[in-house]
Amino acid sequence: MIVLGIETSCDETAAAIVTDKRDILSNVVLRQLEEHAVFGGVVPEIAARAHIDHLDNTIRIALEQANLRPNMVGAVAATCGPGLIGGVLVGMMTAKAMASALKVPFIAVNHLEAHALTPRLTSDLEFPYLILLVSGGHTQILVAEGVGQYKRWGTTLDDAAGECFDKSAKLMGLPYPGGPNIERMANNTKDAKQALEQFPLPRPMQHHKNYDFSFSGLKSAVRSHVESLSSASMADKDIENLCFSLQMAISETLASRCARAIEKFKAAYGPQTLNPTLVVSGGVSANQTIRKTLENLCAKAGFRLSAPPLDLCTDNAAMVAWVGVERLRLGLTDPLTFKARPRWPLDPAAEPRHGAGVKA
Ligand code: KG4
Ligand code: ZN
Repeated sequence: MIVLGIETSCDETAAAIVTDKRDILSNVVLRQLEEHAVFGGVVPEIAARAHIDHLDNTIRIALEQANLRPNMVGAVAATCGPGLIGGVLVGMMTAKAMASALKVPFIAVNHLEAHALTPRLTSDLEFPYLILLVSGGHTQILVAEGVGQYKRWGTTLDDAAGECFDKSAKLMGLPYPGGPNIERMANNTKDAKQALEQFPLPRPMQHHKNYDFSFSGLKSAVRSHVESLSSASMADKDIENLCFSLQMAISETLASRCARAIEKFKAAYGPQTLNPTLVVSGGVSANQTIRKTLENLCAKAGFRLSAPPLDLCTDNAAMVAWVGVERLRLGLTDPLTFKARPRWPLDPAAEPRHGAGVKA
């Protein structure tokens, strides 16, 4: 079975071909960095127009690299939410048109499910497993019980971890996207202890007896540090140290919430799970310090950490095609009347969090 996947929910225009044997025949990602750089963040209208300009060619290249003609594709899967609706519509309508012309099934993919199932594309991983889903728009702790079956245990009450990286980077004058730039600067820090002393930061929610996150206070603390240094004295060394301290605060905050979730998972699923696993996925999971911190946590807790390869952490279409494979196997296809969903929770039954808005 060969599935074409299409991803256009944010600022990546992406197309990929994946088989049910877990072969990634092609995985083309076009990042719209230059289009948005001057604005310091993604501008939805510009993103949607850029998807229109580039998607057809991106699909053509994905087919060429896979050595396939369009009529060899067995199904077309596209992200249909959640995300920036203009971009989502471009990808969804293109996928519907192709599925209709080729007379093959169409599969509407939840972008969050694509992040959640990525480790099943790259490794042997059985349900159930625990997930820390950390992207630009979402920070959630979930249990994957099966395809389309998720329990959401925790979410952010305000900003997502990726947003905290991105907004803090902007405060420090670093370019978008903030996460990779903060990681690069943090890696240059010469003295870790001094960095943490120079820029102390809180570990939000650490003592709350739940699985939720809150990152807006951390961002405000970064703002106070930036304002306490006049721009003339904000030397590279200061920025490196602040980045280091922030990366550490986010890593430890994520890990402390996961530690609680691991205990709950053990109690709820322990007897039926031979190889208990914490999956970390979404763009922020590309961060090496976060991976190492979670690795240490898992080692202590007797869990395995499963983190996708870096190019499958940030947005891509291979993960979308893979959801197509998983759903097709179960006979789950969608009609061409399917409507895009700007908000599409993985666990619709989860209790809403006051003030969390679309991130719930
Ligand atoms: O999953 P993703 O590519 O897009 C969304 O679905 O949102 O995640 C993008 C987020 C951005 O906030 C970006 O700054 C963050 O992932 N990110 C990172 C790193 N690479 C990307 N954050 C920290 N460290 C990184 N190396
Ligand atoms: Zn994503």
